[in-house]
Amino acid sequence: MAGYIPQEVIEEVRSRADIVEIISEYIPLKKSGGNFKALCPFHNEKTSSFMVSPAKQIYHCFGCGVGGNVFNFVMMHEHLSFHEAIKKIAANVGVKLPEINKKSSIAETLFNKLLKANELTMLFYHKQLLESREAVSVKTYLKSRDFNRATAENFKLGFASSQWRSLFEYLLKEGISDKVMAQAGLISPRQGGGYCDRFRNRLIFPIFNSYDKVIGFGGRVLEDGQMPKYLNSPDTPVFSKGKNLYGLNLAKKFILEKDRVIIVEGYTDCIRAHENSFKETVATLGTALTVEQARSLKRYTKNFILIYDADDAGELAALRNLDVLLPEGVMPRIAVLPKGSDPDDYLRNSGIDNFNKIIENTKNIFDYKLQLLFKKYNASSSEDKVRITEEFLPTLSLVSNSVLRSIYVKKLAEALNVGEVNILSELSKFQKAVYKPVISKDVNKKKFIDLAEKILLVIMLDDNEFIANAKKELSIDDFISDDIRPIISKTFELYEENKKVKPAALIDELNDDESRILITSVFLDMPEIKDKEKNFTDCIISIKKRCIESKLNRIKLKQKEAQQKDMNEEAQELLKEATALIKERKELTKKKNYG
Ligand code: CTP
Ligand code: MN
Repeated sequence: MAGYIPQEVIEEVRSRADIVEIISEYIPLKKSGGNFKALCPFHNEKTSSFMVSPAKQIYHCFGCGVGGNVFNFVMMHEHLSFHEAIKKIAANVGVKLPEINKKSSIAETLFNKLLKANELTMLFYHKQLLESREAVSVKTYLKSRDFNRATAENFKLGFASSQWRSLFEYLLKEGISDKVMAQAGLISPRQGGGYCDRFRNRLIFPIFNSYDKVIGFGGRVLEDGQMPKYLNSPDTPVFSKGKNLYGLNLAKKFILEKDRVIIVEGYTDCIRAHENSFKETVATLGTALTVEQARSLKRYTKNFILIYDADDAGELAALRNLDVLLPEGVMPRIAVLPKGSDPDDYLRNSGIDNFNKIIENTKNIFDYKLQLLFKKYNASSSEDKVRITEEFLPTLSLVSNSVLRSIYVKKLAEALNVGEVNILSELSKFQKAVYKPVISKDVNKKKFIDLAEKILLVIMLDDNEFIANAKKELSIDDFISDDIRPIISKTFELYEENKKVKPAALIDELNDDESRILITSVFLDMPEIKDKEKNFTDCIISIKKRCIESKLNRIKLKQKEAQQKDMNEEAQELLKEATALIKERKELTKKKNYG
């Protein structure tokens, strides 16, 4: 969906929208030095730790750790997507966005053309379902599954008849070119030339994005056993199965209201849930939840309830979700349905009350995984104990909260009848071996960032002239703080492309939560840097010296090894390397003292 609002337009909005003015529309700001202060709107507090910088056009809360630019603020405050926030701010500051569906004099973009083709297709199939004679079969089918007319209308269900080209001809009449139809995935090329409709003799589920635009379709066969059971739109410039969620357009209001989201797998599960008053339900369309989907839901709530089919595929999908959700700071709960049923069957056969009970009995993710592992393996065999531990630790290591981690270490130890120390030592081995620290969402825990690296970043973004010099002196690997490397690397990259590098724009370029919060906290924490030249040189020297130290340490270790193994030649080489490094270090020190 990126690219829907042209970059120049985003820049235009950014340059006109003053963060202080916009935030003031939501909360009262008080001047404090060069910045503004307020009680944070994103957590409860008695003293102001929410800071806004007019110079940098960013905000950061030192209480709860949120931060960002003007777009992020409006997104967070109003639970909007990036595009929705830009639209809103653009309207406030008088920037005209290219509009969808309006026949303007501006050439329609491909994106708009595809959306229009999809919209017409949705209406066509929906009308077919409600009015055409051929639709008897699909109506009978819907009836047999207990889906009524109101549901068909609410979800704009449709019918693709068995004719080869009915949609094709309809769209052609409406002025849609065959090229656009093909790009929208609505028609397929035929052997020997020409096209035919992609969906034939199927019940059609239009898929909407969160602002009610039709972006794709799913089509189900009317008789079980025919293949494929579901045929979906291919990925197109407006549709990507892993990024969108079925039902979100209808559910988002209710997710906010109930502060929870129910996530199911299938179209029919989602529809059945809505019909039975669980309107906070969305469907992933048969795949495991992706990071994009998790992030888009996180804007509305942190309470995820996964209700998957009680089959092996469902269990696997639920487990795969863990690896996506835990690093995102989301601790989902998982409901297990009785064997062989999916949410649709279960609601239909057992009703709302029982479904509510299932939700009340949802298991936290670790209990769920433990339970599965104990089903899969025989916990009385020592080999299997090892396997259970091995499979459980990767999940556990994704949790940044140490209290929670220790609770589960204890649980696992008890269940396997081994000492907690053994589990702890395996955990620490595992973490050392593969574990890259999961970027903790617990923002109160300040991350260690080397001061010289922080100052360097601030100087470079204050005055882009310094970037060239930093690039010449240092490589990305010379930066020791894992979290700052992507930021520095993007800074270098944008500079190469002759772009201005400023904190507020850099945040959007990087487009990841961790970097955004790091940038805002560094810039709102740092006092103004006066003597930039001198500070810049000192930082470069300090970073270089640190790199030399660490190289020397590595050499020392190798030297020991070489001595023990009597490898004289190797030892000689290492000595040479060390001497050169020591000389380099001396020169740096001199430069610092006289520079
Ligand atoms: N799915 C798909 N393609 C398939 C099979 C499944 O895209 N060939 C997706 C669909 O989004 C489907 C979901 O995976 O809704 C779950 O699949 P399944 O459980 O098989 O279907 P149900 O949703 O239960 O559909 P129904 O109740 O109509 O059988
Ligand atoms: Mn089903």
